[in-house]
Amino acid sequence: MGSEGWGRVTRVLGNDENDNRISEGSLVTLGASGYGTMRSSLWIPSHDLLTVPEAVWEKAGPAGCTLFQLGGTAMRMLTDFVPLQPGDVVIQNAGNSGVGIMASQLSQAMFGASLVSVIRRGSKSAGELDQLMDYLKSTGKCSLVAIEEDLANDQQAVRQFQQQLRDLSPSQQLPKLAFNAVGGPSAQLLLKCLDAAGTMVTYGGMSGQGIQVGTPQLIFKDLRVLGYWHSRWMIQHLTPEKQEMVDALCQAMMKDEVILSPVKVFSLRDVQQGLQWQAGQSNQAIRSKLVWDCQE
Ligand SMILES: NC(=O)c1ccc[n+]([C@@H]2O[C@H](COP(=O)([O-])OP(=O)(O)OC[C@H]3O[C@@H](n4cnc5c(N)ncnc54)[C@H](OP(=O)(O)O)[C@@H]3O)[C@@H](O)[C@H]2O)c1
Repeated sequence: MGSEGWGRVTRVLGNDENDNRISEGSLVTLGASGYGTMRSSLWIPSHDLLTVPEAVWEKAGPAGCTLFQLGGTAMRMLTDFVPLQPGDVVIQNAGNSGVGIMASQLSQAMFGASLVSVIRRGSKSAGELDQLMDYLKSTGKCSLVAIEEDLANDQQAVRQFQQQLRDLSPSQQLPKLAFNAVGGPSAQLLLKCLDAAGTMVTYGGMSGQGIQVGTPQLIFKDLRVLGYWHSRWMIQHLTPEKQEMVDALCQAMMKDEVILSPVKVFSLRDVQQGLQWQAGQSNQAIRSKLVWDCQE
């Protein structure tokens, strides 16, 4: 279980002793899917490990382990679908999610592209929403944060929002790239905000609803609707490419281009307390990630 995490090498045996990236004590994260990270130990071939500089642990502490899956997903979606240029605009829903905050920080740092986040008001109070919007603009480096409910079923509000998006772009263009983690009407809103030939990448389905794409959006706007799964990318790519991604994420964190979300650490032995704490923070404006300490 689990795909995000890191650990330390305690023994190196056999042919893996020739892999000079890895030695006893090395800080590593997984370079392959399916091993599970909610575990105290495992035997693993060294080519399935990616090294993490010790400085990342010194700077970030336990929060550092959230960098690779969330950051890797955001980085690949920004890199692999549309060639982004400085000044381009990207739009996403679930802008306050772990991946979403990474995406907004990395789009600025890697491409000089503006990122616009749509979030849902849900049951958040006005104060919580203000606090969250400030956080997404300051720490999250979002250029604009919009509330999904304010745009739902209101064509005039959507038109005004589209103009705000154009105004962010030096060429007055709508976004050419969108990231969808929600589905349903939220994904439809993203499609309405894309420029002709724009691409929507779906990586999550938090609402549990499907995605409806209008026929004219396909025929006349030539929109592309694609998906991204980080596990598949990890399977399809070689260790040096994966190490390059981890190195880039670590550098971005060390340069403060990525500020990690707060975390709360629980021992895996205290699984009940951890899950209770997690359930209790569902209404928090700025949620922490739950990190399991799996040491025996
Ligand atoms: N494809 C991949 O490779 C990949 C990689 C990583 C993550 N993911 C997926 O990406 C999604 C986000 O992951 P994460 O760890 O970044 O999430 P997270 O930090 O736990 O945040 C969850 C986000 O989803 C929103 N949300 C929850 N329920 C919703 C609903 N019913 N309708 C609309 N929005 C809802 C939350 O908004 P509120 O604050 O308003 O509740 C929040 O923005 C998950 O579906 C996860 O499985 C996919």
